[in-house]
Amino acid sequence: MTVKTTFPKGFLWGGATAANQCEGAYDVDGKGLTIADVSPGGKERLGLLMSGEFPLEIDRDNYTYPNHKGIDFYNRYKEDIAMFAEMGFKTFRMSISWARIFPNGDDAEPNEAGLRHYENVIDELLKYGIEPTITMSHYETPLNLVKEYGGWKNRELIALFERYAKVILERFHTKVKYWMTFNEINTGVFGSFFSTAMREAVPQDNFQALHNQFVASSLATKMAHELNPNIMMGCMSIYATMYTMDSNPLTAIKREEENRLLNYYCNDLQVRGEYPSYALKYFKKNGIEIEIAEGELALIKEHTVDYLSFSYYMSSTVSTEVGEEARGNFFGGTKNPFLKASEWGWEIDPVGLRIALCDLYGRYGVPLYISENGLGASDNVEKDGSINDDYRIDYLKLHIEEMAKAINIDGVDLMAYTPWGCIDLVSASTGEMSKRYGFIYVDLDDEGHGTMKRSKKKSFNWYKEVITNNGL
Ligand code: BG6
Repeated sequence: MTVKTTFPKGFLWGGATAANQCEGAYDVDGKGLTIADVSPGGKERLGLLMSGEFPLEIDRDNYTYPNHKGIDFYNRYKEDIAMFAEMGFKTFRMSISWARIFPNGDDAEPNEAGLRHYENVIDELLKYGIEPTITMSHYETPLNLVKEYGGWKNRELIALFERYAKVILERFHTKVKYWMTFNEINTGVFGSFFSTAMREAVPQDNFQALHNQFVASSLATKMAHELNPNIMMGCMSIYATMYTMDSNPLTAIKREEENRLLNYYCNDLQVRGEYPSYALKYFKKNGIEIEIAEGELALIKEHTVDYLSFSYYMSSTVSTEVGEEARGNFFGGTKNPFLKASEWGWEIDPVGLRIALCDLYGRYGVPLYISENGLGASDNVEKDGSINDDYRIDYLKLHIEEMAKAINIDGVDLMAYTPWGCIDLVSASTGEMSKRYGFIYVDLDDEGHGTMKRSKKKSFNWYKEVITNNGL
């Protein structure tokens, strides 16, 4: 059967970034430190973050901090946005760094210089007709909230986030239609430092932190809709399609349990607005007691999101046998014999994206937004300056084809696609520059050397054509 690869009129093609990974200027114009500013660079970053064995101070004698410099998007945003416009972006997903607005997270007054900066960036996007999509919190909680409050397990963060959300919504609600509250909120299930801003992963605290974020997210959604009913507020989770290694029913049950906790739990709360019954049983079994204040459950129920966004990089395979582990998969699991992996061990699975779209749309029935997807790869600059990233084109092409099938065969309501790191930026899991995702190459290496000059990769013109033809 030939599949029409049409995308809906008004489909939001674009690209995605996060402030901490591209802006640099980490101590400029009154910005406070964030958790990303003390996260060391290098392949060992993820291990350090998991073990908590790194200082919460800048320690240049022992570590490097690539996020401090980023790719200098803070100063070069005009040049970069002009290139996004040249590709024809309809939307650009960016985050606001909380610590540019409230340097310590708990300051009495917001920092006007920070607000002005984002206003300039937003105006620059609008100048080209690019709709900003803003993530309110993308792995960049103010550091002071870790040190003084212990991160998101502390219920005081709800009010602090509410104040931050109020300030940015009041300032930008007429200019920005698409928002997301917390990036990859479900990484909090295993207590990721990036999303919970907590040094230790303890199930009780992880689920309390998530509850506090659900409340904060609903408060932001309520405010946004009151200010401007046209605003579309989304949640954002990482999603990995889960397979079973064999047809053993016991493997299927294991998958069911992992799947609902990792892929569904947060979406169930933020889209359906209720604690699912499997979660209540799980809490009871594991001695988890969440402190819930009066009115919070009603708030979560009433102020659910308008669309569901998710990042998709890989699938995951569940097994009841001892097998070879999949090296880079976020949700662990066994190596899938049918899939190839990226240089960083992330299993590449375009069909898994179609399955993800069907699964999420079937379960929730709200518009879907693929807020991240892409191939982290080393790029080679040829003598003539060209960068022939055919592997990236192949990866994206295969994923876009599966999106088209989900829309045209499966009837999924997909509203947007913003590939990750549309311009090369600092990797979240390793702090490397050499793990590149962009259509735009940035001349900068892992040690921070380079001119930061921007140049177009082969994928730049390819993606431009995809957008011009609306995916055809
Ligand atoms: C997602 C994050 O997990 O994956 C991004 O939301 C991150 O911040 C992206 O950069 C890719 O991961 P990495 O580790 O390759 O940068």
